[in-house]
Amino acid sequence: MERGTLRQWLRETDDTRLAELWAAADATRHAHVGDAVHLRGLVEFSNYCARECHYCGLRASHADIERYRMSADEILACAQAAVRFGYGTVVLQSGEDYGTSARWLEDVVRRIKAESPLAVTLSVGERRPEELAAWRAAGADRYLLRFETSNPQLFAAIHPGHGGRLSDRIALLRTLRALGYEVGSGVMVGIPGQSWDDLVHDLETFQGLDLDMIGIGPYLPHPQTPLGREGPQRIAAPEEQVPNSELMTYKMVALTRLMCPEANIPSTTALATVNRERGRELGLQRGANIVMPNLTPPLYRCKYEIYPEKACLHESAEQCHGCLLGRIRALGRPVGTGRGDSPNRRRRVEPPAAVSALPCAHPSRSESDAK
Ligand code: 5AD
Ligand code: FES
Repeated sequence: MERGTLRQWLRETDDTRLAELWAAADATRHAHVGDAVHLRGLVEFSNYCARECHYCGLRASHADIERYRMSADEILACAQAAVRFGYGTVVLQSGEDYGTSARWLEDVVRRIKAESPLAVTLSVGERRPEELAAWRAAGADRYLLRFETSNPQLFAAIHPGHGGRLSDRIALLRTLRALGYEVGSGVMVGIPGQSWDDLVHDLETFQGLDLDMIGIGPYLPHPQTPLGREGPQRIAAPEEQVPNSELMTYKMVALTRLMCPEANIPSTTALATVNRERGRELGLQRGANIVMPNLTPPLYRCKYEIYPEKACLHESAEQCHGCLLGRIRALGRPVGTGRGDSPNRRRRVEPPAAVSALPCAHPSRSESDAK
């Protein structure tokens, strides 16, 4: 899609035109990834974090939260619950916690892979390539690392470096791909200082990286973080500042589906937080095909407060499971079975003959495939 068209859609306010965007995204979702909604069980296994992201409630210097680390056995129990609930994937997420050694996490991944048919997704921050390689060798299938914004100045302004080096998440995403992971990334919408053109560039970056999974949520100010407390250091001109609204997030989800037809796109917890009644459903009707029921034991999950009033903070795994099944069924969509691998990945690992038989997702795909 042309830049001018993307800009227009992002600024569109007319309900009739927007209904066309939702319909186009929904039809593309149906054609490329089908109607099934895949469930990924989320285990937030540690809220320790070594980093100081300016917007995140888990940042190292936020002293007001009680820190926890789940044991390997507790994580395994969550994985067993995922199997019982019929989920195909377990997502192990934490802050960037160097108190969990690479070896420890490697053992956890190995145990889950030995004891269950689950796909394992890791979302544990910017770790060293050797660690990423060790987890991949232990059987981890997928890795999530949002680049948050493709604007390098804005990224640097809200992500202090660590251990004397600045982050390069785009480079890390390429490393993950080279290691054979299914790679997921994403952004927040409406970060103070984020412009409309930044979002256009985010969409182009999703496409250029040929991502397997793309998570998008509104930026939600956390009052105990520098960005939530003091606002931006870098202020976009008012007419350039993107709102952190629910509607803006749906537009990004829908355009992402049109730009990356085969990607797995979750209807995120942040969307469910800004609209508890309908956020997940509207995400699923405007391009998304994945939801991530929370499996974290209630004792811990209330301490994983990345932003305030996070949805599902006080529910149990059973409650989230029942709630999401009900919502998916009410939409008339089937619940996915199996691992729900991204069609992108299937295309990459299948022999060339099979590849050419697949419908061409997007003309620029072949370019990015060459990487
Ligand atoms: N508002 C919205 N999303 C947030 N995240 C972290 N802090 C916030 C916030 N204040 C998102 C980031 C991160 C993911 C785990 O949660 O995009 O990658
Ligand atoms: Fe930990 Fe942001 S402070 S991920």
